[in-house]
Parts: sequence; C-alpha cells; structure tokens
Amino acid sequence: MFETIQSRGVDQILSLMLAFRSDPRDQKVDLVVGVYKDANGDVPVMKAVKAAEKVLLEEEDTKTYVGMAGDAEYRAFVPPMLLGSEAKVIKEGRITSLQTVGGSGALKVGCDLLHGMNPDQLVWVSTPTWANHIPVATDSGLKTAQYPYFRLSDRGLDFDGMMSHLEANAKAGDAILLHACCHNPTGVDLSFEQWKIVTDFVLKRGLLPYVDCAYQGLGDGMEEDVAGLRYLAERVPEMLLASSFSKNFGIYRERTGALSIVARTPEELAVVQEAAETAIRSNYSMPPSHGARVVATVLSDPAMKADWAEELEEMRERVAEMRSELRRMLEERQVTRDLSFITDQKGMFSYTGFTKDEVVRLRDDFGIYTAGDGRMNVAALAPENLEAVADGFAAILRA
Ligand code: LMR
Repeated sequence: MFETIQSRGVDQILSLMLAFRSDPRDQKVDLVVGVYKDANGDVPVMKAVKAAEKVLLEEEDTKTYVGMAGDAEYRAFVPPMLLGSEAKVIKEGRITSLQTVGGSGALKVGCDLLHGMNPDQLVWVSTPTWANHIPVATDSGLKTAQYPYFRLSDRGLDFDGMMSHLEANAKAGDAILLHACCHNPTGVDLSFEQWKIVTDFVLKRGLLPYVDCAYQGLGDGMEEDVAGLRYLAERVPEMLLASSFSKNFGIYRERTGALSIVARTPEELAVVQEAAETAIRSNYSMPPSHGARVVATVLSDPAMKADWAEELEEMRERVAEMRSELRRMLEERQVTRDLSFITDQKGMFSYTGFTKDEVVRLRDDFGIYTAGDGRMNVAALAPENLEAVADGFAAILRA
C-alpha cells in the first residue's frame, strides 16, 4: 500500500540544515535555519534558562499530565507579553492562551479550529511566507491565497501591491495571516502606519486576523516589535495569534508556543477555547511541560527575568551589528548595487533576492548555505565567518 504515497518533497529549510551537517568541507557556513548563534558560532542556552532548569530539577515534584490547555502559570504570561498588561482584551476577559507544541503547533491548532468552523475557510498569506505556513494550512483542509508582499527591485515591501490585491480579492470571513515582526523569510515588516491601514481594512472587510509572532524581541525590542500587533488587537473583535518562545528564549527544541484566541465576549471565548482544546486532543493530546515551566520560572523571578531581558537585548544588538558589518564588507568589496536592504530588514533573516542558481553556486563554490529561496539567517553571522560570506556574496552580487 505504501507504494501509492507520492513524495511531496522535504521541507527545504530542514533538508538544507541536514545537508550542511553532512557536507565534509572544512570551509562552510550555515545560514539556513533560524537559530541565533553567538559570536563563537554556538547556539547558546541562555543564562536565565539554565538557572530556571536548575530550579526545576530541584523543585519539580510530579510528571503527571498537564492537560490539553497546558501549564496555567505559563499561559497567563503570554497575553501581557504579546499585547501589554493594559490591553483591552485582557481587561475584558476576551483573550485566552493555550500552550502548544511550538509556534508550528499553535498554527496547526488554529488552522484546525478555522477548518472546523468553516470547511471552505480561506486564509491569505504573504508572497513569500514562511515555508511551513501553506503546508500547515492546507493539511488542515484550509484554502490558501497569496497577497503580494516582497518587492525584488528594492528588496522591500510592496505595500501598495498588497493592499490593492486584498482590496480587490479578499472577502468577508476570509482569514489573513500577518507576521507580527521580523517577517520570515524576508525581514521586511509593516511600519506602524501600515499596521493602521491594515487594521482599518480588516475591520472594513470583515476579515479574521491570524498573526504569527515568532520573533518578538529580535527586531527593534520586546515592546517595539509588537506595536502594530497591539494596535490591531485593540480594535478587532476576533483574532488568532500564534506565538513562540523558541527564538526569544532560545529553547527551540523544547517546542514552547501558544495559540491565543481573542473572541467578542468571554462567553464566546469559552466555546472557542473548548473547540481549540478538542483540536489539541486529536493532534497530540497535550503539550510537553518542560519549556513552559522554564518560561514561567524565568518570568516569575525578577532577577532571572532581568537576566533574560538583558541577554536577549545583547542578542538583538549582535544581529543588528552583523547586518551593518556585512553591508560594510560588501561595500568594501566594490559591490555597487544598493545594499540598504541588509540593514533595513529586521530580525534574524535577510532576503537576499538570490536566484535558485545563485543559491546553488554559493553552496557549491563557497560552502555558504542559505535557504533555497535565498533567505539568510543573519543571526548566524559571526566574526569568524563574515569574511567568507562577504567574499561569496560579493562574487555573486558583482556578477
Ligand atoms: C526557520 O524558519 O528557519 C525556523 O522557523 C525553523 C523552522 O522550523 O523552519
């Protein structure tokens, strides 16, 4: 029977991550998967996370099930972090957060929820979007449609194209997937003014916003990165929000995410939450505990929380510095085209605009691995690999 299975191809981000590991060359640079690396090229465990794990090792006294919604203390930290403790939806009891298996788990549960609500539900996604967005949505049975987003000519945002396409094609009841910050894969974000325009449009057209917030704290800062999201959340009646602590706590493999649901009333919220818990139950029953306990332990201890915030800020600054350094080195290498996109784009990624052939050339000739679409993980640049990356990029960009 298995012979009838058709290959759908392997996710290019994860397959390139593995291809890099098995590349025997000494001179190679991994700019594929979105993990933060320090100046030594290591993916560090943050100090506050280590401290919390010590506490947990001593104090954890049970391994019993956590329940479908996950860890209650952890769940309570999510809405204020995303939306601010003064958020209207928190005061009105219109938001709940469910612990999920990473941000991907949150996206999946949210998509299952949407499909359960309407089998013909359509979700709009940006062109391009994170490689897993469309597979998650379509595997849940949703229909997807794409709105223009990235403009190759200046490697910036095609906001007019985005809005005119949505204006002409989006219908009441459609969902729209937006990236809160540090857009994956492009690093190109909506400005605050553009969030306002999107909010007005969402309200006018009657769309359901579904926001993916995986990189809070890695763009301009924990508060700054969600200013647009907060503006939206103050105004829309309903919303889904998938978030993750993978990046800002560096706990990727602990799969620590949340699906937050905003409903019109607390009563409606209870019904939606139950439906989401049913989706969780049939997907994976309930989330694992460790990552959520780590996050809750850090955030409930003022000293650990301060340590975490400081280290996150250092990470953010290091990424910004790597952007400037790469730009400077390319300019030094007489790359004459406009390189401002490198420093303008936000977060861990930069979308180089390299073609498929250029991506292959970078990999084969220079041992530099980017994602297949030319996305590079800027957070993996370090003093030890910058020269090599600048040489490889310059050879391509000058050609
Ligand atoms: C990425 O985009 O590199 C990360 O979100 C990791 C992943 O799962 O793709």
